[in-house]
Amino acid sequence: MIYAQKEDFFIMCGITGFTGKVPALPILLKGLESLEYRGYDSAGVTLVTEDALFTQKRKGRLADLESSMDVPSFMQTTGIGHTRWATHGVPSQLNSHPHTNEKETISIVHNGIIENYQSIKEKLIALGYVFQSDTDSEVIVHLLDHYYQGDMMEAIQKTVQQLNGSYAICVVTTDHPDEVYVAKDSSPMVIGHSENGSYCASDIPAILEYTKDVVILEDGQMAKLTPNGVAVFDFAGNALETKVTHIPYDMNAAQKGGYTTFMEKEIYEQPVAIKETMRGIIDHGQIHLPQLDAVDMQKIQYVHFVACGTAYHACLYAQALVQKWLGRIVTCVAASEFRYGNYPVNENTLCVFVTQSGETADTLAALKMSKEKGAQCIAVTNVLGSSISRYADQTLYTSAGPEIAVASTKAFTTQLVLLTLMVFDLAKKEGREIADGDAILKDLQRMPEIVKEMLEKAPLMDQYAHFLDNQYDAYFIGRQMDYVGVVEGALKLKEISYVHADAYLAGELKHGSIALIEKDTVVVALATEPSVAAKTISNIEETVARGANVILITTQQQDAPGFKNVIRIPDIHPVLATIPVTVLLQLFAYYAAVHKGRDVDKPRNLAKSVTVE
Ligand code: M6R
Repeated sequence: MIYAQKEDFFIMCGITGFTGKVPALPILLKGLESLEYRGYDSAGVTLVTEDALFTQKRKGRLADLESSMDVPSFMQTTGIGHTRWATHGVPSQLNSHPHTNEKETISIVHNGIIENYQSIKEKLIALGYVFQSDTDSEVIVHLLDHYYQGDMMEAIQKTVQQLNGSYAICVVTTDHPDEVYVAKDSSPMVIGHSENGSYCASDIPAILEYTKDVVILEDGQMAKLTPNGVAVFDFAGNALETKVTHIPYDMNAAQKGGYTTFMEKEIYEQPVAIKETMRGIIDHGQIHLPQLDAVDMQKIQYVHFVACGTAYHACLYAQALVQKWLGRIVTCVAASEFRYGNYPVNENTLCVFVTQSGETADTLAALKMSKEKGAQCIAVTNVLGSSISRYADQTLYTSAGPEIAVASTKAFTTQLVLLTLMVFDLAKKEGREIADGDAILKDLQRMPEIVKEMLEKAPLMDQYAHFLDNQYDAYFIGRQMDYVGVVEGALKLKEISYVHADAYLAGELKHGSIALIEKDTVVVALATEPSVAAKTISNIEETVARGANVILITTQQQDAPGFKNVIRIPDIHPVLATIPVTVLLQLFAYYAAVHKGRDVDKPRNLAKSVTVE
């Protein structure tokens, strides 16, 4: 087994750019097509001549954009293209990229999030700029217009100084119709050159057909592409040596970023996905979630968390936090049950609907019912403009990027992060004291690094997954908040490896299920909650006495004498331990499925989005 050790390659939108000796449009479209697998909601291109820019964009599929243009008739040899995964502003033609200045002399595409776009926008409006879209990206083209005095590299240098957040941008102008400019910070950008010209893209598959030798730009770098080559600079304008990386794999592997499956790729994207989700929310020790200002907590007597599958497990976690921090009656209900359970839902109720896709039929139906009954409804989703976000009163977004594998991984851990921030903020707004509040926020900010440490345990989890080679069952046990890790670990194992897995509260085993434990039965035990860890360890010993093969995940401090297979998570506040534990269990399920030769990305009988009740 080769363990993944890739760069943080995390992509939401798709970018392509070309300048050369042949028509640009087919190259731009083909490049976008190779990035299509990630999902997007709109697409667009700009082609350049010295006389004019030609920009065409469409909401919906790339094929719609393509069929709206007579492709062979476009002979321009320079252009940029984009497929958009909405983050600011709903999917629409106006919000699609490229964005162009008023004179239509500069056009840009952007991947990432500009955190301070509102304040920049206000300043630009005061200078007389008119905005066409709701996107954060549009500020970039107007800033460039503002600074441009004939030298686009200089205008880019001045523009990026104004931007906070993450970006990969690609720029063209009628003044230099055979040049494409790129700049990046915290969002990926690759460039390359062949005899036909120079290419740039947000990910390798888009240019792999033309060259396998690419330059992967680093943060704080910009580049100028001409038909004859590429030149790289830092943001101060100093020329840099280009570092060429040879890509040994083919297009199929490249779409997975060199990983074997999308699930593996998405597991490894978690440090970045978590960082992106927190971006702009935690600032100088304060939480910034203005969507929650609209929630009138004075009125709220009941809180319901409602979701399906893995998102339901995120709700179990949030339920525990509300119990700890918010002092309200709180339930966590499977969306498929919510409408039939006679739960108190009225104007004194806060209902939180958690869904990666934002399209799950049961969750949507539960939301509609709650709205009809007058509840305050918050959605937590990963997909901007999804149905759930349109019905909810307020929406909080995880920024996990498109999740392609059926098994949810990065969506779940980012949900845990966002729900923690949400409950924390609601409690603070009520003036409640949160025990260890500062430490929890500090540890959340360390979470990307902690998750990286967990990913380094992949070889160990692979080895432990072999325990299941000849087993048909596995048992996951834990108490208190560890129960969330237990149910999610069991679900992950079931859905991708088809090994039967049960999740139990550790103290409940002796009330019946322990009858199932025999020699070599695999028991995955979580003991990260200090208040009950010793008790959990006693429960585990009961299984060891019956011959179980135990994998124990616990803290650095916990005594665990006599256990052979022990993994210790880094020191972290116990309320956050579910996140690193989950990453270990994802790896465990992943390798179990690989050993059994399963189709990891598309397990049998399952769909990514369940749009039927
Ligand atoms: O898109 P949603 O989060 O609403 O999806 C909910 C479930 O269908 C989903 O989490 C499902 O359980 C996954 N396959 C779990 O990995």
